[in-house]
Amino acid sequence: MIPLHFEPKIHSFSQVSSTNEILRDLALKGASEGTVVVSRSQSHGRGRLGREWRSPLGGLYVSVLLYPLTPQRITDLPFLVAVAVVQSLEQILPKACTTSLKWPNDILVDRKKMGGILAEAFGEDQFYGGIVGLGINVNTTLKDLEDFQERPFQATSVAALIQGQETDLDSLLQIFLAKLFNLYRLYQEKGFAPIRALWERNCAMVGKEIEIRDVEPKGETLKGKFWGISERGGLLLDLGSSEKREILSGDLTCCWF
Ligand code: BTN
Repeated sequence: MIPLHFEPKIHSFSQVSSTNEILRDLALKGASEGTVVVSRSQSHGRGRLGREWRSPLGGLYVSVLLYPLTPQRITDLPFLVAVAVVQSLEQILPKACTTSLKWPNDILVDRKKMGGILAEAFGEDQFYGGIVGLGINVNTTLKDLEDFQERPFQATSVAALIQGQETDLDSLLQIFLAKLFNLYRLYQEKGFAPIRALWERNCAMVGKEIEIRDVEPKGETLKGKFWGISERGGLLLDLGSSEKREILSGDLTCCWF
């Protein structure tokens, strides 16, 4: 378990294929809990569902080695990271900006996507862990993001919201890691429930009508009220007439908030 005044081991690079990949190699060689890999850019940044994560200079690309309470609870980890990101962005963005989480692991600011999280498991039995990667568009220009403007959730960056000011990536990393390790300690002591409550408090879509596509196992599109997050991190959708469904995988494409 991470001690109270813990100094993470940070491996910094100017370019890597993917920080998740580098951290996986370190983890398999015995890197300790809380090890961090950060890079100024990535040539093969990975997103969820096999998508590319465009990683030009100016973004924050970081992966952290964390341990869920049991191997099956790997899905808890992105929720910890998401709450830490919201808390960090609130410290650097103008008060007028609205930060919100989007299930399962996106960070929206003023309804546009600023960041995403990709958690990957490694190992088995007694030797397991989670590699949790975070990408945030920080000093990223709107030109770098132009291919992403036609998606249901357009892309944005910190720079787009505080024009003319450059954000120091190392300071943002320090803020983020301090928040994350506080939440990680809370998780180790009290379990997933307080993390889930914090996540729901920071999700503007809870209680609102949403549409979700590609719902497994049939690939359906469902509409209903976003009730909250289940004990295992699923999305609870109220379909009316007291029918609630737990969705473990899907793409939230529309929301009204
Ligand atoms: C998503 O929104 O689809 C998740 C994006 C996750 C991107 C980060 S950047 C750091 C880490 N390394 C990767 O290759 N991916 C994650």
